[in-house]
Amino acid sequence: MSKVFSRRSIMNAIGGTAAAAGFFRPGTAVAKLKKDIEPRGSNGTLERLPTLDLDSYDDFSTATRIWINGDLTRASEQRAAEILKSHGVKPTDKVSFEDTVRWVADDPIIALRSASWQRLQWHMWQELRREFHGNFDAYMSELEAADASGPGVLELNPGIEPEYTKHEIHMQPGGYTGDPFAGHLYHYGTNNFYNGTNHQDQRHTALAGAVPVPADGKVRRILDMGCSCGQQVTALKQRFPDAEVWGIDIGAPMVRYAHMRAVDLGIDVNFRHALAEQTGFPDGHFDMVTSYILHHEVTAAASLQIVKEAHRILRPGGVFYPVDIYPSPTNRSDHGTAIRHVRDWMTHRWNHERWWNDYLTTDYIGEIARVGFTLQDAAREGVGYPMVAPGGPRNPLGIKPV
Ligand SMILES: C[S@@+](CC[C@H](N)C(=O)[O-])C[C@H]1O[C@@H](n2cnc3c(N)ncnc32)[C@H](O)[C@@H]1O
Repeated sequence: MSKVFSRRSIMNAIGGTAAAAGFFRPGTAVAKLKKDIEPRGSNGTLERLPTLDLDSYDDFSTATRIWINGDLTRASEQRAAEILKSHGVKPTDKVSFEDTVRWVADDPIIALRSASWQRLQWHMWQELRREFHGNFDAYMSELEAADASGPGVLELNPGIEPEYTKHEIHMQPGGYTGDPFAGHLYHYGTNNFYNGTNHQDQRHTALAGAVPVPADGKVRRILDMGCSCGQQVTALKQRFPDAEVWGIDIGAPMVRYAHMRAVDLGIDVNFRHALAEQTGFPDGHFDMVTSYILHHEVTAAASLQIVKEAHRILRPGGVFYPVDIYPSPTNRSDHGTAIRHVRDWMTHRWNHERWWNDYLTTDYIGEIARVGFTLQDAAREGVGYPMVAPGGPRNPLGIKPV
């Protein structure tokens, strides 16, 4: 007997009966528009948060995050330097990760920084979640109405999520796969994370603008892997209006939200609920494969498999453009230093980056060469936080040999 899902029992089979149908062909956007929830209108491409209260809260949490990332982080790093000095170690000395963490973990200033970050994350997710789950039926109706609207198609494949994709990275409740409003939460949560600098997809537009065109100039099909809310997918379509553009993500709620957003914007792009390591697209199908901050959130094995899959689905001369792959994190000059350990520990332990240590020890440069990519533009070592590259990407790009 086929299983019937109620709208509220879809946590593990996102999309319920609608998702079981799998593939949504575009219809008219009219049904969607009738269900649209936009009580406070839009600011450019971004729908305003639905209440003034929540908007004010967002201002508060953005300001708090700026303080944590600025003054409090500086104080915490200064304190780390003092502690290291008391152990006869400079921040740039190479020491063990375990020793470093043991020395700094219980210091009150460092603990204040870690706890403030974590509490703010928790609080921000809860406030957003209260809105979307508090109005479950309305938001779910909006998603359902968008599922079959176009332009662009949406393909859902319930039950394909491997365990490793279910962690609550960044403490997002339910993670990317387990909350039906994960896309809504991620979009507004990361707007906060970007300190208000990505409300109009500025970062994604800059990244889409930086992808090099294959030498023969042909860009007919593009894929963005781990696309979340689809911001890079829509930005790529705007740069290459004649191309067929796809986004894939293992979070069904992410691609549902991405599709709804694209429908709202009237941008003709397609989304598939799929693993980046097993996309389901034919060999040599794409001219360009991109990803933005995907690799640090998967296991080492998955990360390497994604590089292989990108090579398989790219045509000869196609471009692979993964932003957050560095030639090799272990080759960075600060690898193994005490201050790097402090930062990595904060990211892994307090920002709940579950696969951060896998990421740090993955041999990307070796894998890129092994699968047959030619590295065209080796990443320069970044200043500041390596994954988020303001003003343009610092990452390698592979050109598949002709
Ligand atoms: C940090 S977010 C990426 C942000 C996104 N690229 C953007 O432009 O904002 C990581 C995304 O990768 C997705 N993801 C994680 N593992 C994946 C996998 N193996 N295949 C496809 N998507 C994956 C997550 O569901 C999540 O949406």
